[in-house]
Amino acid sequence: MPVIPATPAAIAAAARKIRDGELVAFPTETVYGLGADATNADAVAAIYAAKGRPQFNPLIVHVADLAAAKELAIFSAQAEKLAAAFWPGPLTMVLPQRPGNAIPDRTTAGLTTVAIRIPSHPVAQALLKEAACPVAAPSANRSGHVSTTHAAHVADDLGDQAAMILEAGPTEFGLESTVIDATTDKLIILRHGAITAETITAATGITPATNTTDDQAPTSPGQLTSHYAPSCPVRLNAESVNDGEALLAFGPDAPPCSGPHINLSETGDLGEAAANLFAALRALDQPGVTAIAVMPIPDHGLGKAINDRLRRAASPRT
Ligand code: TXA
Ligand code: MG
Repeated sequence: MPVIPATPAAIAAAARKIRDGELVAFPTETVYGLGADATNADAVAAIYAAKGRPQFNPLIVHVADLAAAKELAIFSAQAEKLAAAFWPGPLTMVLPQRPGNAIPDRTTAGLTTVAIRIPSHPVAQALLKEAACPVAAPSANRSGHVSTTHAAHVADDLGDQAAMILEAGPTEFGLESTVIDATTDKLIILRHGAITAETITAATGITPATNTTDDQAPTSPGQLTSHYAPSCPVRLNAESVNDGEALLAFGPDAPPCSGPHINLSETGDLGEAAANLFAALRALDQPGVTAIAVMPIPDHGLGKAINDRLRRAASPRT
């Protein structure tokens, strides 16, 4: 499957493929997405097949602007505030569907809600404008595996499952969007991500609640505990490195390691660590490595989203 630099001509070709019901991988400011026309149930089914994604896990619908979003969903006053503060950008809102919208059940896994995001990445924006349809796009990785922040990782994971991979370098944030339930005036963070709870509060005066780890009754069906997983085991809160292990370090005081090792941020910068996280997990996931030992990451701001991904990467595989 061709990895193609995201020139205007390539974006136009990709938009035609989406309109024709094919799958196209494209960069966003968070991670690469695997996109299809969100109004075409067969195209959406092909996304689930390509990723090996469970049918009960709904997709995020990407649109170019607020007018397009409002054709699909109903916005409360709080949702309007969030849209004004964070769109375009790495925030996904779960909203009540507008009755009679063009989104089939396949896209939302039969829910009465729809998750909507307006990405800020110029390639994603251009693609959405050219395609002129809502684009369903999960992260462009095999289901359960580490998300992709480089086009080459998409090619590694999805082989020739996409008709085209638009390439535009590494993604800026490196973590998926924050998913927030905005169906009622009580906002609930369903997935920590590129926009922190602190930033949401500072921009809107709204303090969202958090509900991100309940596998028993998942309000966000994608929040299965085992996820973002490399093939070798992951050991958290490591203070030292055992023989055979690789080291995922953070900050200036990394313990010695004779095997493969990567520092997410030598200065202890959480933004830099988030941007490097998924590529580092892939790079350390090598044959012969018994486990990836991960140093503790502070659990505030973006650290919450990083630790959420690491806990899932370390949890028992199902
Ligand atoms: O940054 C991102 O959000 C990337 C880029 C490509 O936009 N996309 C992404 O999609 O991470 P995905 O499919 O990997 O994760 C979507 C998450 C899943 O946890 C899913 O369960 C949740 O959003 N979700 C989707 N629709 C929902 C809905 N109606 N209600 C609750 N959760 C929903
Ligand atoms: Mg994903």
